[in-house]
Amino acid sequence: MKILAIDTSCDDTCVAVLNDNQILSNVISSQTNLHHQWGGIVPNIAKRAHLEFINPIYETALKRSHLTIDQIDCIAVTQGLGLSPCLGVGIDFAKKLAIKYHKKLIAVNHIEGHILSNFLKNNRNQPQRNIIFPALALTASGGHTQLVLVNKIGFYQVVGQTLDDAAGEALDKAAKLMGLGYPGGAIIEQLSKTGNENFLKLPLPLKEKKNFNFSFSGLKTSFYYQIKDWGEEKIIKNINDLSASFQSAVFNSLISKFKNAAIHYQPKTLLAGGGVLANLALRSQLRSLARELNITIFMPFKKELNTDNAAMIGMVAYYKAQRGEYVKNIPSLDRSPRLSL
Ligand code: KG4
Ligand code: ZN
Repeated sequence: MKILAIDTSCDDTCVAVLNDNQILSNVISSQTNLHHQWGGIVPNIAKRAHLEFINPIYETALKRSHLTIDQIDCIAVTQGLGLSPCLGVGIDFAKKLAIKYHKKLIAVNHIEGHILSNFLKNNRNQPQRNIIFPALALTASGGHTQLVLVNKIGFYQVVGQTLDDAAGEALDKAAKLMGLGYPGGAIIEQLSKTGNENFLKLPLPLKEKKNFNFSFSGLKTSFYYQIKDWGEEKIIKNINDLSASFQSAVFNSLISKFKNAAIHYQPKTLLAGGGVLANLALRSQLRSLARELNITIFMPFKKELNTDNAAMIGMVAYYKAQRGEYVKNIPSLDRSPRLSL
């Protein structure tokens, strides 16, 4: 099945083409430079950029897939979760394509995309991953942080989630406090490499073993109060240690909750996905955790499959198509910024 998928949920304009679970093309136009100066995403600036880029990105994705629109079986688009003005651009574009070319349309949940990004293959020869259910998935991104029990594809139980900021959002906010740009997570990762993670003492929130929720706003507040009277010079002098301390506090929380939930739910496989999983230090900590628990862990095999992309949206659509879950009334499909699993 040939699927053309679109994601404009945040600050990346993404279009991909899949043949079943094999990626034929995956094109991403990142707006990082546009938002760098603001220390975060400005939704209306992001929307304007999506409007400008969506058509050329669509054409590039089709061209790279070596298919024509006539060979595409269905169109998939992110319905939520995401920034409302941004979601609208992708949905309108997908609806127009579906109507003009008489294609079926599939509406996709962005978080399900991050979970199922682990099922994607780069080419036909790449072996199929042996993902056994139930699986426990950690998604950590700029807009969400969740622990999800995957009973089988399409059947999810959210067993923990952030009560305030998402993990990536916390990293972005800490970066902003230190006068660094956006996206903070990637900048903090680089600076942390030579930093001392014990430089600042930061709390481990919601410590109880049976509580699988996250909270990152207390970390950010503690960080803020510890450096608020520091001048720019002192912050710059200690930037590596500050970055390492904050990153380590965020990751300790992710790892300890994932571990507690895995011990409680006894999954057969661990999965992880989302922009924060692009971080090599976190990936290595997760691999150690999986060894300790003696459970196989899968993470997206390429950096650009961790951060937002449309291939993961096509992956969800592939399974939804098998269940016949198409949009019934295409013109009436609307965005759902707070869509839950
Ligand atoms: O999944 P994603 O691209 O978009 C959302 O769905 O939110 O995730 C973006 C988040 C940002 O908060 C960004 O700071 C974080 O992922 N991120 C990272 C890294 N690269 C991106 N966090 C830690 N280390 C990285 N290398
Ligand atoms: Zn995302």
